[in-house]
Amino acid sequence: MKTYLVTGGAGFIGSHFIRHMLGVFGEDISIYNVDALTYAGNLANLEAVKNHPHYHFVKQNINSPELEDLFKSHTFDAVVHFAAESHVDRSIIDSLPFIDTNVRGTQRLLDFARKYNVKRFCHISTDEVYGSLGDTGSFTENTPLAPNSPYSASKAGADLLVRAAFETYQFPVNIVRCSNNYGPNQFPEKLIPLMITNAFEGKPLPVYGKGRNIRDWIYVTDFCSAIQTVLEKGIPGEIYNVGGDSEKTNIDVVKMILEKVGDTNSEIQYVKDRLGHDFRYAIDYRKIHQELGWSPQVSFEEGLERTVTWYKSNAKWWQDIKSGVYMAYYEKQYGTR
Ligand code: NAD
Ligand code: DAU
Repeated sequence: MKTYLVTGGAGFIGSHFIRHMLGVFGEDISIYNVDALTYAGNLANLEAVKNHPHYHFVKQNINSPELEDLFKSHTFDAVVHFAAESHVDRSIIDSLPFIDTNVRGTQRLLDFARKYNVKRFCHISTDEVYGSLGDTGSFTENTPLAPNSPYSASKAGADLLVRAAFETYQFPVNIVRCSNNYGPNQFPEKLIPLMITNAFEGKPLPVYGKGRNIRDWIYVTDFCSAIQTVLEKGIPGEIYNVGGDSEKTNIDVVKMILEKVGDTNSEIQYVKDRLGHDFRYAIDYRKIHQELGWSPQVSFEEGLERTVTWYKSNAKWWQDIKSGVYMAYYEKQYGTR
């Protein structure tokens, strides 16, 4: 049986990954989820597995020395590192938390994982480390790093520290760089869940600039299967790009959401552009496809349909977040965050 340490497993992608792995491996896997429960961490995302005999939650900051206790008392086959400050707009307003978690936290985790002989360190990164594209071309694993926001710069810093652990100590790492994820349980500060929930509430839909920026979307379960593939077949030291073959302008995404939501009083509102707004991302994922045999399975049309349906049937999940109820609950359970 394999034992995995997952960081940031109460967030959007990490919680899908935990449910995915427990679904695939059942009782042949054991997962320790280390999460600090920041504003983005939500244990409701793990309701379905909270009583699974091989799932364990540990409330801990990855950037704290006490994290070592967990490594002392367990042997981990792999660390899958999702924990991060993940929102670009927040990084523009206040950058230091991004350095604390994404850079310092990653180095601390690397140090403990290496000290306690973890067999594989899978670092979850982003296509944003490559910067921005013009109208043509796509990011390969050899595209030079050129991050433009404090968020992407902090992720690029983490990527370089992970790379250095391999080059210096031959510590067996992989870096997985993925494009924009969407799906159930995504925090409603990100484009797709913000627009869906605002449309259900009849609120304005704030589109930055002219809405012509392009993102390359991937349904979250496709990213989870890509990470599983890298854990099983990835070559130590290698970087793998992951994408979903779905480039769309933001305005087209918002119009598709309006169509799927149907009856709403919401209207598109063009607002001030994001500072340093990257124009276009597009991922070339031929390496993971050709070398490890992975491909995305869910089309954007199908994934968006499933996502809108999920937010419609799980209104309490996002209403609690938008109204602050879930923060109050955690503060009562776990103290002030
Ligand atoms: P998220 O913001 O939904 O979740 C982040 C999780 O990390 C939360 O549960 C939070 O509580 C936890 N966390 C934050 N700081 C922590 C700390 N110091 N110690 C322990 N836990 C901490 O993020 P997400 O969208 O699920 O992204 C997960 C990872 O995937 C991130 O590393 C992100 O950079 C990367 N990524 C995201 C996308 C995307 O589109 N969302 C795309 C590519 C890569
Ligand atoms: O590319 C991967 C990255 O995708 C991840 O590394 C990040 O963690 C994740 O947050 C995401 O970053 P983006 O900045 O691309 O995602 P966001 O959902 O914030 O914005 C998507 C696009 O929509 C972007 O061009 C900005 C625009 N936007 C966003 C919001 C929140 C709007 O027009 N209006 C909005 O209100």
